[in-house]
Amino acid sequence: MDIFNLRISWTAFIIWFLHVLVCECVPLPDSDPQMYGEIHSPQYPLPYPPNQQKQWEISVPEGFQISLTFTHLDIEASAGCYYDSITVLYDEKVLGKFCGNENSADGRHPGHQPILSPSSRLTLIFQSDDYNPDRNQNVGFSAQYQAIDIDECSAPEPEDGSGPLCSQICLNTLGSYLCACHHGYELRSDERTCILSCVGGVFDELEGHLMSPGYPNPSPDALSCQYIISVESGFTVSLNFSDKFHIESVDTEEGPNCLYHWLEVIIPDRNPMKLCGGTSPGLINTNSNIVKLGYNIDNQGQSNGWSLEYSTHRVTCPVPGEVAKGRVTPSLTEYFYRDYIFVRCDEGYKLMMVSLKWCGDNGFLYHVPKQRRVASPSNQYLSVVQYHCNEPFYSPYGGNNVSLTCEADRQWRSNHDVILRPACLPVCGRPTKQIENDFQRIIGGNDAAEHTIPWQALINVGSNRGGGMIIADRWILTAAHVVVPNGQVQTPEALSVIHVHSEYNNPKNLNFDHDIALIKLKDPITFQAAIMPLCLPSDNDTYDTGMMGMVSGFGITDKGNQRRFLTNKLKYVHVPVVEQEKCSNSLKGMPSSQTPRLTNNMFCAGTPEGGKDSCKGDSGSGFTLQSENRRFWAAGIVSWGFRCGQKGKYGFYTKVANYVDWINKIMREN
Ligand SMILES: *[C@@H]1O[C@H](CO)[C@@H](O)[C@H](O)[C@H]1NC(C)=O
Ligand SMILES: *[C@@H]1O[C@H](CO)[C@@H](O)[C@H](O)[C@H]1NC(C)=O
Ligand SMILES: *[C@@H]1O[C@H](CO)[C@@H](O)[C@H](O)[C@H]1NC(C)=O
Repeated sequence: MDIFNLRISWTAFIIWFLHVLVCECVPLPDSDPQMYGEIHSPQYPLPYPPNQQKQWEISVPEGFQISLTFTHLDIEASAGCYYDSITVLYDEKVLGKFCGNENSADGRHPGHQPILSPSSRLTLIFQSDDYNPDRNQNVGFSAQYQAIDIDECSAPEPEDGSGPLCSQICLNTLGSYLCACHHGYELRSDERTCILSCVGGVFDELEGHLMSPGYPNPSPDALSCQYIISVESGFTVSLNFSDKFHIESVDTEEGPNCLYHWLEVIIPDRNPMKLCGGTSPGLINTNSNIVKLGYNIDNQGQSNGWSLEYSTHRVTCPVPGEVAKGRVTPSLTEYFYRDYIFVRCDEGYKLMMVSLKWCGDNGFLYHVPKQRRVASPSNQYLSVVQYHCNEPFYSPYGGNNVSLTCEADRQWRSNHDVILRPACLPVCGRPTKQIENDFQRIIGGNDAAEHTIPWQALINVGSNRGGGMIIADRWILTAAHVVVPNGQVQTPEALSVIHVHSEYNNPKNLNFDHDIALIKLKDPITFQAAIMPLCLPSDNDTYDTGMMGMVSGFGITDKGNQRRFLTNKLKYVHVPVVEQEKCSNSLKGMPSSQTPRLTNNMFCAGTPEGGKDSCKGDSGSGFTLQSENRRFWAAGIVSWGFRCGQKGKYGFYTKVANYVDWINKIMREN
């Protein structure tokens, strides 16, 4: 064997191998089925040759059948087409065997009616024998075929007892078919049979109609139906059952019972209701925007079913009522979801958020309820919502007018804040008139022009005289030592109740720690330009060294360094906040038996050169600072000091910021 031959054999082997590969492993696909075609005998339209045996496999796409029509047939006629023939087969079953022509007495001519295959395939076999007496005369046949859609739906029911193709509705489609179901039923996963449809319906229209399957006919056995009515929040659903209502109930010792058949009405946050019996429940107002219905029937007994109409109503918000120092428009007897109102406050008042329910109605102190969820140890959120009222004294809300919308949760809302009741509250720390810039250098300060310090109060307690700050329409803030001159709380007629800080204990006038008290008036003050409240310190308000504060009062004024007397004219003086160390140093060298103790509940103010100070008689009055937005706030209460305006000595003030919680608590609880 030489190298060349070896190569030939290898090539042959590879070709053989490829052939095997193609034939064994990858059967050649049938050519794409045609939708129509033509077939004819060999050599047609010339006469066909003898000894022919030819077979055609015709196919059209799945879902179609073949319609075969012979356009011409001329094959040697013989009884039973014994010699020459064209045979049409389907699945080895002979659909027809033809020979002869239209006029021959022998043979069988297919005529011009099409031959239909039961499916998409058809086999044709042509054969001729070796002898033909009319040789050169018979030309054979020509036939045309086309795919036609099978109407699967009109096919007779299969005899194997598997039932009709579709249990309810059959829809013929081109090349296939689809099953469908009557109203109230749905197609099962076999895509053939239907079951009563009673699951998964969500009714989200504002009104609608629900009924038991098959109603008004009795309900089929073994049902477990779910219906959900879910409309947008802000609406509530009412169910109106029709009179014809019957769900089987069982008489037990405790009376009729919905044991085996029932309709359950599930409303969130309420106990579910099970309905049965022969009496219509009539109208059920659910007060909820979501209602679930569960209809259960076991496989015995009979329930004639139920039907209901549901409708929806807008939720109502509480009537805002009268707004003191303001008004609500429009004024209606009922307010519904998405209604809106305007609240306008009188001049000098601004709108506040009010939560009477949680913070108590004290006539002034209103707080925004803060919703806070409390995490449990497992870090899961409890459904408990705690309301906190420890906000700053008050929070400004909008301007003098605001519009509120009735929301789905029945609250009046604007800017996403809950309003339980709007109220107009006085504006604090903003006198209608400003003190002109002054550069007074003289002890005792200047006379205050009208309306510049409208929060100043004059307090006469027995023989004692002092000052105070109006901080609310019934509350005056002052020093404890003004109202407890000698260990006894004095309660003058005009004052309703005095709340002295419980830790104030100053029998010898040497301990001014907690020198703070609140006076509640019998009647609320009506604010006006001459009487307006001062703000309490907010979180952002700070006591910065050097910051200029203002002390006011009707105290003793030093005139010409000679005489001192009480004044009925309101005076004021500007003095800076002094750092605590300097305050402390200023007390050094003083006999301790005569010197009050300095605590962190105090601060001092004044100028090192002296000359400007608060004095006896100013006690209880305010030391005010201004926040960035020029709002006056109660920084200090005139508490104690040495001879007024002396060089190197400062005035001492109760640090109000340390007492905001105490003040709010007293006002809230009284
Ligand atoms: C409940 O439906 C009935 C008719 O089925 C109707 O006459 C009646 O007014 C409806 N009730 C309400 C409150 O809508
Ligand atoms: C408040 O209402 C008054 C009277 O309707 C109106 O003149 C004023 O512009 C309103 N103010 C605001 C801030 O909307
Ligand atoms: C405090 O200051 C911060 C930052 O300037 C501000 O966002 C906040 O509203 C202020 N709070 C109050 C109560 O004024």
